[in-house]
This record gives sequence, structure tokens and C-alpha cells, in this order.
Amino acid sequence: MSKYRIALLPGDGVGIEVMEAARRVLDVLKLDAEYVRADIGWEFWRREGNPLPQRTVDILKNCTCALFGAITSKPIENADRELAAELKGKGFSYRSPIVHLRQLFDLYIALRPCKAYPGNPLNYREDINMVVFRENTEGLYSGIEFWPIPEEVRRVLEKHGGQMQRFKNVPSEEMAIGLRVITQKGGERIIRAAFEYAQRIGYPKVTLVEKPNILRETSGLMIREGKRVASRFPNIKLEMTNIDAQMMWLLKNPRDFGVMVTSNLFGDILSDLASQLVGGLGFACSGNLGDRFALFEPVHGSAPKYAGRYKVNPMAMLLAVKMMLDWLKEGEKAAALESAIAGVIAEGRVRTYDMGGSHSTLEMAGAVAERI
Ligand code: NAI
Ligand code: MG
Repeated sequence: MSKYRIALLPGDGVGIEVMEAARRVLDVLKLDAEYVRADIGWEFWRREGNPLPQRTVDILKNCTCALFGAITSKPIENADRELAAELKGKGFSYRSPIVHLRQLFDLYIALRPCKAYPGNPLNYREDINMVVFRENTEGLYSGIEFWPIPEEVRRVLEKHGGQMQRFKNVPSEEMAIGLRVITQKGGERIIRAAFEYAQRIGYPKVTLVEKPNILRETSGLMIREGKRVASRFPNIKLEMTNIDAQMMWLLKNPRDFGVMVTSNLFGDILSDLASQLVGGLGFACSGNLGDRFALFEPVHGSAPKYAGRYKVNPMAMLLAVKMMLDWLKEGEKAAALESAIAGVIAEGRVRTYDMGGSHSTLEMAGAVAERI
């Protein structure tokens, strides 16, 4: 029996191509693993009315972790229109399978490493090396939104929140409300993960990015938890910044930041900027981590305009594989993969279109595999 069982979820479009690239590299790394392919994505929505079939969830429950490609998702009108004829009008409703997976497996950490590999023509600067810890299950993405506003919600808000009085004369169908939910547990565990990480890599500071002067209660809670967690790590400084200012600091002095932590929406934005500094979607990878399970993915989507053409950069996916190896504590293999990736980038002979070259997805993966 193999040491690991790893689910491979290629998904749609270029997700399938970058998964093929990942396989080439995994094969030369000779990880002691059994790979199990599983279905996810738009095709399964169309054919079965479920982009995350139950059989996939069952497979994942018996796996160590998962590698995910990318999926296509479309607005609600398309979802209904593209559903197979025999499934139409039967009450199927589309739900993002990736958000669903995060909730199902309580993958509360979105970890986004952003490191500049020297020689990448897309680097903003060559000395960037940072990670973003983004809370992945709550915040403004709680999924609790109202439109039109139900009477009982209005009543409660008008009674409790003085501010709601300002909207007293706005009709319920002329406004929408979303809830930013921050729990103590949610705040504590993401901040703790960031501190533990800083401790592990010997980095002296964690930057907690929020907006407590405006979002007094929700960001306030994050700050409170931040201070509490920080008190348990005397060697690591807690730095607190506001999300808007942080975006400017990140462009101005990216070298000043190594470990950042924040809530869901802010983290979504912050991590996209951070990845752009080191090459953008062709290089951005993400780990969705829980206490017992994890799923690794490139940040990009199914890139329909390139689907079937083997043009996109597989580095984002290969860096996701590297994260997976780290998570599995396969340090040596992770290092071998990273040094092969860095070597291919530094050499600059094999480059995909986004880097100004014309090599294919699999040529790039092949160059990495060869170096390994
Ligand atoms: P996208 O990430 O698929 O592609 C946007 C553009 O970025 C591409 O046209 C291409 O120019 C560039 N790009 C993406 N990946 C690249 C790579 N590996 N190498 C080089 N260039 C790359 O985003 P888009 O077009 O907004 O969405 C397409 C579909 O993907 C949609 O259905 C969307 O819902 C879905 N999506 C899925 C995600 C996921 O599975 N995690 C994440 C983002 C979007
Ligand atoms: Mg994003």
C-alpha cells in the first residue's frame, strides 16, 4: 500500500492540462502515492446537475489530500440554460464546488505564497518573498445575504443598530445586505496559523491587515484575537495595518512583508495583488488547509480561451504541488521540485506565452521534470 492517497481533480478547460503537467512532475518525483482521479466542475453540472458529485466527496474522504486544477463557473442564467434537457426544471441549483469543498472539509486557511524566482521577466521586484494567510470560511463571504430585506431582519436591525435608522425610508427591495461574520474561533485559528508559520520559518513579524477604525466590531475582534495570539509568541512582533494602506505599502516596500494574515475578502484582494508582484496567474498557487485535510490548486481558472491548446503556464500548478509536498512533510522532494522550478525560470530557455515565450504547458513541465 502507498503512503499517501492523493485525489486529482482536473476540472474544466486548462485545469485538465495543468493537471497533466503536475502528473509528469509527480511521476519523476516518485512520491510514494496512489493517485485517484475524481470528477468536479461545469461538465458534471451540465450532465448530472451537480458540479461536485457525491462520489467525489466519498473519494476525498478517503484521501490524504487533493490536487485541484480549475473549473468553469458561470452566472445563474447560464447554469440553468446549459443544464441537460432531462434535468431542467427538476430543482437543481448551482453551487460553487470549490466553496462547497472548503466548507465541507473545514479548510479554513487559504495560504498563498508569493515568491519572486530570479529571472522571471514578470517579477515586479526580485526580492519578494511573502505569504498571505487568508481566512477561508467566514467574513464577508459568509454567504449570508439578503435581497429584498425580509421584514424580520429589518426589524431586528432597526432595533439594534442605530445606523440602520438612516436607511429607514429605503424600501426593502431597493437594498441588499450582506453579513460580515467573524467568529472568535475563526479569527484565532487563522492568526495562530500565521504565527506558527512565522515561528517555523524564523520570520520575526506577522502583519495583521484589517480596518478596525471603520469596521469596529468585526475587524475589532480580529485585532483582539491578534493581540491574544501574539502574547503567546514573544519572539514574533505583531504589526497591524489597514487594508487600504497595506495595498500601497505592498507596492512601495514589498520587501518589508513576509507573513500577512487577514479575513476573507481582504485576503482575497491582498493575495491577488501579492501574486501579481511575482508573475501573476501563471505563478500563483494556493493551499486550502484544514486540520486534517488540504487541497492545493493554482489560483487561475479554466481560461476558456486557451482551453485545449496547451499554452498556459503550468508553474502555478507545479508550485501548488510543491506546497502539497511541504504539507506532507516531504521536505526533500519539495526542495528538489522548487530548485528545478527556480532553475528553469533562471535559465529562461523554456518559457510559456505569459513570460514572452512560445513553449507549451507540457514543454515547461518537461523542463522541470528533466531537472528533477
Ligand atoms: P482565468 O484565471 O481562467 O483566466 C484569465 C486569464 O488569465 C486567461 O485568459 C489568461 O490570459 C490568464 N491566465 C490564466 N491562467 C494562466 C496560466 N496558467 N498561465 C498563463 N496565463 C494564465 O479567469 P477568467 O477568465 O476570469 O475565468 C474563466 C473561468 O474560470 C470562469 O468560468 C471562472 O468562473 C473560472 N474560475 C475558476 C477558478 C478556480 O477554479 N479556482 C478561479 C477563477 C476563475
Ligand atoms: Mg481572488
